[in-house]
Amino acid sequence: MSDTNRYNVIGHALPRVDAPEKVDGKALYVDDYRFPGLLHCAMVLSPHPHAEVLAIRTDKALSVPGVLRILTAADVPVNQIGCVFPDQPLLAADRVRFVGDRVALVVAETREIARHAVSLVEVDYRPLLSVHDPELALAGDAPALHAKGNLLAHQKIRHGDAAARLTSCDVVVEHVFEVNYQEHAYLEPQGALAVPETGGGVTILGSMQCPFYVQSGVARALRLDRNRVRVEQTVTGGGFGGKEDYPTEVAACAALAALATGRPAKLIYTRGEDIQISTKRHRMRMRYRIGADRDGKLQAIHVTQFVDAGGYAGLSTIVAERANSTAAGPYFFPNAHVDTYIVYTNNLFGGAFRGFGNPQVTFAIEGMMELLAGKLGLDPVELRRRNLLTEGMPIICGQALPPSAPSREVLDTLVDRADLGRLRAEAEAFNKTSRFKRKGVGLALSMYGCCLHAGGQHLEGSGALVQVRADGSVEVNIGGTELGQGAFTVVAQIAAETLGADYGRVRVLPSDTRMVADSGPTVASRTTIMSGNAVRAASLQVRSRLVELAAVMLGCSSRDIEVGNGLYRGGGKELPFADLCMEAFRRKLHLAASGWYAPVPKPWDKETGQGIAYSVYCFTGHVAVVEVDLVGGLVKVEKVIAVHDVGKAINPATLEGQAHGGIVQGMGWALSENLVLDKGRCLNPGFTDYLIPSSLDAPQMDVVFVEDPYPDGPFGAKGIGEPSLISVPTAVALAAGNACGQLADRIPVTPEIVLRWTELSRRC
Ligand code: MOS
Repeated sequence: MSDTNRYNVIGHALPRVDAPEKVDGKALYVDDYRFPGLLHCAMVLSPHPHAEVLAIRTDKALSVPGVLRILTAADVPVNQIGCVFPDQPLLAADRVRFVGDRVALVVAETREIARHAVSLVEVDYRPLLSVHDPELALAGDAPALHAKGNLLAHQKIRHGDAAARLTSCDVVVEHVFEVNYQEHAYLEPQGALAVPETGGGVTILGSMQCPFYVQSGVARALRLDRNRVRVEQTVTGGGFGGKEDYPTEVAACAALAALATGRPAKLIYTRGEDIQISTKRHRMRMRYRIGADRDGKLQAIHVTQFVDAGGYAGLSTIVAERANSTAAGPYFFPNAHVDTYIVYTNNLFGGAFRGFGNPQVTFAIEGMMELLAGKLGLDPVELRRRNLLTEGMPIICGQALPPSAPSREVLDTLVDRADLGRLRAEAEAFNKTSRFKRKGVGLALSMYGCCLHAGGQHLEGSGALVQVRADGSVEVNIGGTELGQGAFTVVAQIAAETLGADYGRVRVLPSDTRMVADSGPTVASRTTIMSGNAVRAASLQVRSRLVELAAVMLGCSSRDIEVGNGLYRGGGKELPFADLCMEAFRRKLHLAASGWYAPVPKPWDKETGQGIAYSVYCFTGHVAVVEVDLVGGLVKVEKVIAVHDVGKAINPATLEGQAHGGIVQGMGWALSENLVLDKGRCLNPGFTDYLIPSSLDAPQMDVVFVEDPYPDGPFGAKGIGEPSLISVPTAVALAAGNACGQLADRIPVTPEIVLRWTELSRRC
């Protein structure tokens, strides 16, 4: 991409390694797999948001021909599936806590029979009072979902003295922001298949992000040694965080059925089940107060926010840690006080979703910057510029911002590239002449901590296995997974560049717990860094053996060998990689190596939220231009400009793909994706009424990458998966508000909100 790129493979927009099989339709997704004797599962789900389970009668369902087993809580060896806290049964025993809580599992010869039998399972419930708002759930008279009450966790930032400083600021602004859930809307719903193995144990095939989570979760629930649970990821049709922890539940159900019957068993969710019962982006309410001096220097931030976890903990506390640690966005506040309450309710199950708590707080802090700029009479972009965190400055966790923090370059590039002044002038001119339409411009920045938070650093190590064959072809296994984001392409490029191999002859094999040590989850925009570094480490070991051999063959010193573009050069001569590999094989050199990468430890004090939150940060900015229809209330996104700080672009084409996907998914949450709940039941669990943007809604997109190498990243690279989305919803929502002369403080900005904003709604 850049003219200074000195690499043959890295930095080039090479075709994706997984493209052909996905384009020609031959890729096998989990539901495509067939095994002799394969059984099918279907779930009996609670219709109540909160109830006692008094009795389950299965005789009618069991009498249906083709039904083999109906499994309930008593059949689960260790009925505990919670990823972080042991609060969640695989099959509800005596109590259900949300609509869709799983009560029983029917195992049958066909999917149709299984689903029919579900309707014949009779469950007696005694409905309990339910609670559907996190603040109400914390009130003394709220029904308690768990023995310890409804407060799952309380996270804090205590930095300086925000309360005191706020009393002496020249200007203080205060506001409440609320955001709704978001459904991942991956193309492929949740699904897993389990095959019982001779000698005990089970092999799991499934759609997932984190094979090692599935391995440990299934092993625990079925009381098996982890070495008896092999997990292989099948080609996965999207994850976006929705296949982080959740697939463990699906896999454990399939495994339970397989071990109970001795036959392979499959569980595939319907779309309606998936939307109702799998995890969602968290609904949050955020109360913000910030203060500044008259010249716009930020002085203090005070945040009280509520994360609606739903009936079980899942990953909510981990998600919330991002909302907590990065509540102040990319801005310097000498004083910060943040209280993040993670609360059980009888609503949908909150969990991981691209951005992981950060898009929510980005919406709040960026809205606050707009409000404060208005009160100070300052350009909101200028206010942001004056307060941007740069390398070495302390964030609200007290951590000095580590190198690769080009926040200013991101903002300046964004303003230039968008031609912000012209966009604003054009919108203003349009709005003067148009009667029923308005244009608006919104800008938002974000700061995202790449890789796992200090609280999850015990999971941070990642491995890889690189094997070079005698013919010069290469096999790579990584502990991370391909979700459509391009991970396999990036690691193939890293292997090819490092080894000097032919990129087209590097094969990345399906992720399999048998091949690589537990590498933690494929989340947190960490895969390029973690798996990339592991592949680089493994490749370097093999390369050093090949370099020694090349030196012997070329009659020069190994120090003089240069590697690249399929050749090992030295002493004025060169050796093709494949010839070198054949000779190495003959000489019985070991051409395989495993690699491992783990970052340095991050100290963290939970009580004060002070320490090293993340190893490195990514800065992103988006500008959105929208046109608002004042009659119908619809917002159309016309154009989005994105600037991403990526460290180093390993593959500019896959990066751009991520950026485009983040834009479209982010604008969906901002505008049209609105899950409507009635006492915890989703009223629109399908894509007829839950409106994700289609290709026709995609705006004109312009994406720019800023490269400031991350010293610990492979070839300097950082992550893109989540930063691609984080500031999009805010830029879009702010643009819609800007068009109507209002501050957007709710997501999504539905037509009802727009109509409330406009005078027209009053006239109608
Ligand atoms: Mo991700 S939302 O950290 O799977």
